[in-house]
Amino acid sequence: MKPEKQYPKEVYLNGKWLKPDEAFVPVFDRAFMFGDGVYEVTPFYKGKGFKLKEHLKRLQYSLDQIQITFNAFSLEELMLEAIDRAGLNNADAAVYIQVSRGAGPRSHFVPEKIETSILLYAFKVTLEGFEKKTWHVMASEDKRWHRCDIKSTALLANVMANEAAISAGFHENLLLRNGYFTEGSHSSLFFVKYGVVYTHPEGPEILSGITRAEVINICASLNIKVIEKAVHFDELVEVEEVFVTGTTTQIIPVSSITRHNKKVYITRKDSLTKKLQEVFIKRTRR
Ligand code: PDD
Repeated sequence: MKPEKQYPKEVYLNGKWLKPDEAFVPVFDRAFMFGDGVYEVTPFYKGKGFKLKEHLKRLQYSLDQIQITFNAFSLEELMLEAIDRAGLNNADAAVYIQVSRGAGPRSHFVPEKIETSILLYAFKVTLEGFEKKTWHVMASEDKRWHRCDIKSTALLANVMANEAAISAGFHENLLLRNGYFTEGSHSSLFFVKYGVVYTHPEGPEILSGITRAEVINICASLNIKVIEKAVHFDELVEVEEVFVTGTTTQIIPVSSITRHNKKVYITRKDSLTKKLQEVFIKRTRR
């Protein structure tokens, strides 16, 4: 069964707060036509933004990479307003921000005169109890482009990968490029081998996850060695623990990996993942 999702009560669109069914973008909006836009999802624990500046910094990076001139940090107050207006000051929530290049007559090149379009809203999420979950996942070819470092709204390959997983009863799809694991369809990916934590290095093949960075930081504080090096599919025989991370996922251990309908990994331990979860809860809930 697929989880049920709901619309927020209100969205901010280009200067106005509107009900979702009253908020419209032009058919020639380039995020609609080309996926020519970028986005960000920031968590709020009981009304307090976690790593808010880091999320805005990453949004700025995405904007700069696709050459949209816009100051991401100018959205900070609107994010707080969204939480407030949605009555989520004492609840766990997230804020979605989407910056589209804007609308213009269809052309592959970017029109000279174009106005950026901003969509922003807060929504309720369950952030409590993640430490009790485990995920059965599948693995498949990474069919995405080579600029996964840009948090682009053009997510078709991620959508196809996630849909393949969810419709087959898995929680996530771990992606493989040339035999090496990159990340999940909507999460960062970690492996533990002989007590050492491995994760794909930052670069065009993965999104630079904010939770990923926090986990690396937690490892340093616990004197756990981290090597930012891609893990090959054939190394799974040596892997002790696998876990995925993300803004709403937080830290969830992978209990099994299935590839081509065959189980290729079954969890051997979970002690290191549990330690990271403990510290993560302390940091997000302080
Ligand atoms: N996705 N990798 C991909 C491809 C992702 O889509 C995400 C998060 C992550 C984790 O990044 P972070 O820790 O910064 O959330 C890694 C968001 C939540 C989404 O698309 O909804």
